[in-house]
Amino acid sequence: MRPAVPLAELTTLRVGGPATVADCATTASLVATVRALDAAGVPLLLLAGGSNLLVSDDPVPGVVVRVASDGVEFGADGVTVEAGANWDSVVAKTVAAGFGGLECLSGIPGSAGATPVQNVGAYGVEVAQLLRRVRLLDRASGQTHWVGPADLALGYRTSRLKYTDDAVVLAVEFALDPSGMSAPLRYGELARILGAGDGESRPAAAVREAVLGLRAGKGMVLDPADHDTWSAGSFFTNPVVPADAVDRVRAAIRDHLGETAFPTYPAPDGVKFSAGWLIEHAGFGKGFPGPDAAARLSTKHTLALTNRGEARASDIVALARVVRDGVAERFGVVLVPEPVTVGTRI
Ligand code: EPU
Repeated sequence: MRPAVPLAELTTLRVGGPATVADCATTASLVATVRALDAAGVPLLLLAGGSNLLVSDDPVPGVVVRVASDGVEFGADGVTVEAGANWDSVVAKTVAAGFGGLECLSGIPGSAGATPVQNVGAYGVEVAQLLRRVRLLDRASGQTHWVGPADLALGYRTSRLKYTDDAVVLAVEFALDPSGMSAPLRYGELARILGAGDGESRPAAAVREAVLGLRAGKGMVLDPADHDTWSAGSFFTNPVVPADAVDRVRAAIRDHLGETAFPTYPAPDGVKFSAGWLIEHAGFGKGFPGPDAAARLSTKHTLALTNRGEARASDIVALARVVRDGVAERFGVVLVPEPVTVGTRI
């Protein structure tokens, strides 16, 4: 155990108070540590890449279990990875080994074990499409078992593992395409760069390069020298407005901005609006509230809240509230944060 580790050192937003940290470099030590802490009734917080966490500035009670198991094992048509493996390294390894499937998920910060928890997605692909099974530690029984995607209630940025602490992800297995061709390209901007029609594939390595370029342009690839990337990625999910409320939101947009085009995406039971667009058009432009603020919107993408170097969790929380309340006031849509909050709430 390491006492008084500032969690600001272990999260991509680089905020968070001090905690006692237990480093688990293997799956066996992760299982043993969680079992022991649970048996002793000690509260625990699981942390791996730290890229989807907003931790308060106060001391964190109990023990932070740092998942650092990082084995990667290839089969003939898939890969099994331990939960603490760095996600982008996993994607890079699959592409280098001649497998297609994960390339659209290049450049995403965080760990492999976190990907099924919130069904990570980008550029037209979600892990749900490739997930074969997940190995869980059930904390109530202390037993480990594999579950398939059908048991995980995977949805847009959610699963039954999100917002509950009853299971720990130990490993994840993905189905891959041994031909080395990418998943069908469904994201217009990406397909255009690669000269592909909707649903066509391209070599996975070329798709990875294109995705990394797109993400970097939006400040969504970690770079210690670039404060626009000191973030938790998208801070809010894209809101799905129920079918019977869509006309009300359209009218609010028209009232404030006149006739204007805005991006929407199909979603089950409603219409998905673009949180980045709503934020920008509610008056919170890129870089809001300005260069002197400790926490501000990324200068490259309004959906990322960023730490300019000295921000504390309270600064990030305050900015998130201003943005959420402003968008709600103007358009009647309440944005929901994507990161998990610890010891604080928006
Ligand atoms: N937009 C603005 N202003 C901005 C940025 C975007 O108006 O500053 C509008 C534009 O109209 C743009 C639209 O928002 O066309 C969509 O932007 P983008 O293509 O960047 O996608 P997003 O919906 O903002 C989602 C995911 C990202 C993922 C990208 C690409 C969520 C919450 N976010 O962002 O995932 O990388 O699509 O697929 O679904 C993450 O979850 O942390 C994440 C980065």
